[in-house]
Parts: sequence; C-alpha cells; structure tokens
Amino acid sequence: MNFELTEEQLMIQQMAREFAQEKIAPTAVERDISTEFPFEIIKEMGELGFMGMMVSPDYGGAGLDTVSYVLAMAEISKVDASVGVVMSVNNSLVCWGLEHYASDFLKEKYLIPLASGQKLGAFALSEPEAGSDATNQHTEAVKVGDNWSVNGIKNWITNGKNADYYLVMAQTNRELRHKGITTFLIEKGTPGFDQAKKEDKLGIRSSDTCSISFSDCLVPHENIVWEEGKGFNFAMKTLNGGRIGIAAQALGIAEASLEASINYSKQRKAFGTEIKNHQAIQFKIADMAVQVEASKLLILEAAALKDAGKDYTKQAAMAKLYASKVAVDCALEAIQIHGGYGYVREYLVERYLRDAKITEIYEGTSEIQRVVIARELLK
Ligand code: CAA
Repeated sequence: MNFELTEEQLMIQQMAREFAQEKIAPTAVERDISTEFPFEIIKEMGELGFMGMMVSPDYGGAGLDTVSYVLAMAEISKVDASVGVVMSVNNSLVCWGLEHYASDFLKEKYLIPLASGQKLGAFALSEPEAGSDATNQHTEAVKVGDNWSVNGIKNWITNGKNADYYLVMAQTNRELRHKGITTFLIEKGTPGFDQAKKEDKLGIRSSDTCSISFSDCLVPHENIVWEEGKGFNFAMKTLNGGRIGIAAQALGIAEASLEASINYSKQRKAFGTEIKNHQAIQFKIADMAVQVEASKLLILEAAALKDAGKDYTKQAAMAKLYASKVAVDCALEAIQIHGGYGYVREYLVERYLRDAKITEIYEGTSEIQRVVIARELLK
C-alpha cells in the first residue's frame, strides 16, 4: 500500500492552496455577510481548470484523477466552503455525469463550456416532497412531438440562480416508479423555466440556493441524458461521486478548524501560560487531529477506488458520513477553544460551524448515508 501522493497530485494541491489563499480568502468574510456570489473567483477557477477537473481535455477539462480533485476541493473549502460547493456541484454532479452518460452531441454542446468554466451547471433532483425520498418525483415530462413538456418544482438547488445548464430529473412513466424517471438537460432561459428567490441560509451563504420551476417547459428529445427511464440510476451513480466531493469539502472545514485552534492556543494566555500548555486544550487538539486524519484517509480511499474503476458506493457514503460529522465536531471544538472570541465573526470559527452543518444534509443526509452503507453490507 502506498500512502504517497504523486508529484502531479501534490502540485495540484499546492496550486489550489495558493489560489485559495491569494484569491478567495481576502473576500470570504465579506461574501459570507453580503451573500454575494463569487462570480470572478469561479471564472478564474474555470480558467485554471478547477471547474472540470476530472473531465478529459477532449471535452475542455483538466483530465485529472479524483484524488487530485478531492485534494483541491479540501484546499478551496478550507478557505471558503461556499466556493467549495459551487465547484463540487459543477465538477462531480454535472460534468462527471455528462461525461459518463451523455450523448456525444450533448457533450460537445454542453460539457465543453461547463468543464472549461465558461458556463455553470446545477443538479435538480430534490423537490418539496422528494428530499431523502428521492424516488418520489412529482416533476413530470410528457412527450409532445420531438420535445418533452416539463412541469414541476425543484428546490434546494445549489447554483440555482446562477447556473446556465440544469440536469433535471422528471417522471416520464409514473407506473414504473423510479425506473420511469428521466434526466433532461435544460437551459436557463427556456420558456417556462423560472427561478424563485435565493434562500437566506445559515451557512455557505455566498453560494446560491433556490427553487426552480417548470411550466410547460419544452425540452428537445436530444437533451435526454443517457436514456429514458435511466434518470434515477443516473442521479444515484452521480451522487456517489458527489458525496466524495462533499466529504472533501467537510475535510477542508475540519482542517481549517484545527489550524485555527492550534494558532489560537499558541497565542492566548490563561492561568499564566499559553492555553496550548493546558491538557484540556491539548486533548481537544489531539482528538481533532485524529478525526481529520481518519476522514482524509476515508476520502482518499473512496477517491482511489473510483480512480481504479472499482465500486465505491459504500466508501463514498462512509467518507461523507464521517467527514461531515468531523467537520461539525471540529468546528464546535474550535469555538470552545476560542471561548467568547469563537462566538463572534472576527475569528472565523463561527462560520466554520455554520458552513459545516450543511455537509450532514445535502447530497444525502447522514441518515441516508447510513441506509446506503447498511444496504451495501447486507445485500
Ligand atoms: N448507488 C447506485 N445505485 C443506487 C444507490 C447508490 N448509492 N442507492 C440506490 N441505488 C439504486 C438501487 O440499487 C435501486 O436500483 P434498482 O431499482 O435498479 O435495483 C434504485 O436506486 C432504487 O433504490 P431503492 O430501491 O433502495 O430505493 P429507496 O427509495 O428505498 O432508497 C435512496 C433510495 C437510497 C434513499 C435514495 O433515494 C437516496 O439516495 N436518497 C437521497 C437523495 C439525495 O442524496 N439527494 C441529494 C440531492 S442533490 C444535492 O444535494 C446537490 C446539491 O445541490 C448540493
């Protein structure tokens, strides 16, 4: 077993770290308050290859492996998890799904601009009555000549306001239940497509999340991704990879919490000495470091399995389940170590907690990850 990263993987990690520090960090607090979407940052990330990292250069991507992707995701999210989720959805839910399952026509037309960062993508599975229970899709598409007429509402859509292209799951044959769900690529601006107001969220505040709706929205037949009836399968397979990306986002937040705690405990004095000299603080920092390391190993294992072309369903769910809990726990401990200073904006760690919480909810709640893990073990 080799725990060494390759030179290329280390280079990508370093490049992401420098970009995050130089270009993202200076405005992260400001954007958390204003909720302004990081347009310029995402544009630059596209130019550097961070928006289509795993896509082949033939389709405008960087042609890198999943391990490089999670290393970069963690570095970006360590500085700003809002930017992390925009990157994660475009890379693992949109570009990866299109590259693996879309027709050449769709890849030429949509994947190239998405992977090269000229356009942004969103993944629309969740609905008001279909969150964890994702097979319960109410959005419906009916064939009308060479088009499909889509009607329904999708909610909690990351990049919902600012995306250009949306992968939308809809029922095309209700009798077949989840085997009657189909994925459509729908362009923003198609008549009948509408967006609701941006959600005012607890964390990842500068990423945009909103509901979108379709009212007799006509989509060409050729915009079906994969095949009619394969939409649920598509969503699940795509989410397996997405979950590795969100686990890496959570890892970044946990690492930031640990780093902030180490730095603060070297400066802050109590009872006549730096608090790093108190065992109460040392134990917290040791526990955080073990959790961070364990979640990193789970994430790298899931990513390496994916790169090796092996099944990674269980490992992706384990990585997300564990890393998201670690992110929340480490952010809480970081606040505790910072005391009153941890509770105010100036010291960043309160944002880490607000940002961490969503990693236990989106792309499958922690409860759903347990369902996935148990089913894999018991089948
Ligand atoms: N990988 C591959 N296939 C999977 C799978 C996985 N992880 N999980 C389920 N499937 C397959 C099953 O094998 C089954 O396929 P067959 O019919 O061909 O045998 C099919 O999906 C249906 O599965 P079940 O019969 O187990 O259906 P269920 O309703 O009992 O459970 C579920 C399904 C696992 C709970 C699923 O609905 C699920 O994962 N829910 C969570 C949805 C989710 O993650 N939403 C995130 C929204 S996207 C988002 O958050 C993005 C964002 O903006 C950040």
